[in-house]
Amino acid sequence: MRLKRKDLLGIEDLRADEIELILSTAESFKEVSDREIKKVPTLRGKTIINLFYEPSTRTRTSFEIAAKRMSADAINISASSSSVVKGETLKDTARNLEAMKPDCIVVRHSSSGTPRMLSKYVACSVVNAGDGAHEHPSQALLDMLTVKEKKGRIDGLSIAIVGDIAHSRVARSNIYGFTKLGASVIVAGPPTMMPPGIESLGCRATTDMESAIKGADVVMMLRIQTERQKESFFPTIREYSRLYGLNEERVKRAKDDVIILHPGPINRGVEISPEVADGPYSLILDQVTNGVAVRMAIFYLLLGAAREE
Ligand code: CP
Repeated sequence: MRLKRKDLLGIEDLRADEIELILSTAESFKEVSDREIKKVPTLRGKTIINLFYEPSTRTRTSFEIAAKRMSADAINISASSSSVVKGETLKDTARNLEAMKPDCIVVRHSSSGTPRMLSKYVACSVVNAGDGAHEHPSQALLDMLTVKEKKGRIDGLSIAIVGDIAHSRVARSNIYGFTKLGASVIVAGPPTMMPPGIESLGCRATTDMESAIKGADVVMMLRIQTERQKESFFPTIREYSRLYGLNEERVKRAKDDVIILHPGPINRGVEISPEVADGPYSLILDQVTNGVAVRMAIFYLLLGAAREE
């Protein structure tokens, strides 16, 4: 089996069976990271470029580790150290990178739609590593893998996503992904951070955090995306934390076996208390571990499986 598509641009594009295929492939790759020699030869001879126009710790590192664990050559380019600072356009950058014959470009950019635009300029595969407030598909896939691993299923679960919904590409990708796999998703946040029409993506929406997390199987907390906000969307951090922060008291409203997710980076004491972030319900570091397996699966299904077949 392979993904019969050149690029991975968003979860909105994927069918449920394609998401299931990525998750099951990721499950099979997890053991590679537990081996003493953490490497398989599957992508030997392939070249993967990580083109990051925005800061990243988890996504960039795990795409690089995933490529290297599959024996591909991985090259990292950040905007600050590239010819972008000399005025080169994205299109020219892409066409020059393409001239060096990479097999895949992984791109993160502050503008929504950049990966899709890039995919039209280049013949190689393009993977979206986060574009503006649009989508972050590999994050949603690792979130779904983490939930599936812990709960044994996604179908029928109740998922609450809380925080800055308007500016969150993670929220959008997860709404698409979890609802396609049969979960019920509710998003909660301040009215100023709730985009009009969000329910058209298939979720419910509320400004009342406590009702959103009541009886939830999964609570996903989101960071306030100050880098995407041109104005202040709430009076003070303290006020935000009081109304929308997840603390031990609020966790009790969810199911007894609730799991807590956060894509990171977390702002301790703002959207999540340290006790909850480091507590028994938190799977935040499991998400990071699963990020490597999911990204290995993405590379395999875009670049490797076709060759093996
Ligand atoms: N979750 C996430 O995208 O983290 P980074 O910004 O560190 O990549």
